[in-house]
Amino acid sequence: MDYKSYFDVPEDIIYLNTPGNGLMPRSHHIWRRHRDEAFFAPSGVEREKQGEFIAEVKKDIADLFHCGTDRIFCVPNFSFGFNTLIEGLSADTTFALISEDYPSLNYPVLSRGFPHFFIEANENLEENIFNAVSEKRPHVLLLSVVQYISGLQVDISFIKKLKMSFPDLMIIGDATQYLGTAPFDFDNSGFDAIGTSGYKWMMAGFGNGFLMISETFRSKIYGEAQSRPRPQEAMWAKKSILDTYFEPGHQDTLSHGTLQQSIRFLKEIGLESIQQHIQRLNTLAYGELIARDLILPSIKAKAVKSSLINIQISPDLYPVLMSSGLRCFPRGTGIRIGIHLYNDESDIERLIQLIDKHIWNSK
Ligand SMILES: Cc1ncc(COP(=O)(O)O)c(C=O)c1O
Repeated sequence: MDYKSYFDVPEDIIYLNTPGNGLMPRSHHIWRRHRDEAFFAPSGVEREKQGEFIAEVKKDIADLFHCGTDRIFCVPNFSFGFNTLIEGLSADTTFALISEDYPSLNYPVLSRGFPHFFIEANENLEENIFNAVSEKRPHVLLLSVVQYISGLQVDISFIKKLKMSFPDLMIIGDATQYLGTAPFDFDNSGFDAIGTSGYKWMMAGFGNGFLMISETFRSKIYGEAQSRPRPQEAMWAKKSILDTYFEPGHQDTLSHGTLQQSIRFLKEIGLESIQQHIQRLNTLAYGELIARDLILPSIKAKAVKSSLINIQISPDLYPVLMSSGLRCFPRGTGIRIGIHLYNDESDIERLIQLIDKHIWNSK
C-alpha cells in the first residue's frame, strides 16, 4: 500500500525524523485551515462548543486505544500530563526509574524528592526490571515504552506479566515514541497510566497529547482532593475532580481536533496494517545496518526492535546528511532515525546509499 501518497513529501527529502516530530497527512492541513476559519468566524458557534468537542475527541481515543472516556485526559503534551499525575501521589511514593530515560520522566521525580532507584537499560531490560521490582518493591515503575536515544523497546507483553506478578505495582508508561505504530489495548496492557504527546508517531502536530489511567490508579491519585466536594458551578457541572487537575482551563480545540483527525486516520488505515508496514521496512533497515555493524550491541541482541533506530555513525555527519535531504537527528553516539507510515523501501535504500557514501568519504 502506498501510504506516502497521503502526505506531501518533496522528492528530495528522505523524512526519517519522526522521533523528533512526525509529518501530518495532507488531509490534516486542509481540515485545520477550514476548522480555524469556522472556529473564529464572528458569526460562528464553534467557540461555544469546546467542552463537547473535547468529549468527542476522547470518544475517538477511547475507541482506538481501549480506555473509558472518564479515564482519558486531554493535555497539551506528555510532560504536562505526567507532572500533573505525579503531583497527585504522596511524597513517600517510591519510584523505579530507567537510567537515561527521557528527562521529562526522571527529572520531575528527582526534583520533587521522591525516593527512587535506577534500573539499567540494556538487552536484558525486562529481566532487570523484574529482578529490581522483586527485590526492592517500589510503588511505581516508570518507563518509556521506547527509549528516546537508543530505541530500546520494552516488550509490551512483559508489562502484562509483570502486573500479574505484582498487582500492587503501579506501572506508568510514556508511549510518545510508540503509540501510532502498533495496536494498543490500554485496559488490557498492565499499565496503570500511559501518556503521549501527539506530534511524533501520532502525526497530530504540536499542542496536544493525552493520558489514560486505570480504574485503580484513578482512585489512588489526588485521594484527599477526590474526597472533597465536586465543583458546584454550573459551567463545571460535568468536571470530575481529576478533570480540574488535568484539564483545568480552556483547551486548544484546533490542536486536539488535529489529534482526533489522526485517531480517525489511524483507525481507517488500521494499526495492524501500519505495524506490518513498519515491520517490513524495519527488517530491511536493520538487515542493512547490522551488516555494516552500525547498530548498538544491546539493540542487536534484543528480539523486540522498535522503529526508532540509532545508527552508529558519527553525529558530526549530521550537517552533511541534512544537506543531502535526510531528515534525522544526532543523539547519543550516533544519528537517530525513525521509520513510519510515510516511509517506503526507496527511503531506506537512499539512506543506506548516503551512509555508504559518507562513511566511505570519511575513511
Ligand atoms: C520518550 C519521550 N517522551 C516524551 C517526549 C516529548 O515530551 P514533550 O512533548 O512533553 O516534550 C519525547 C520527545 O522527544 C520522548 O522522546
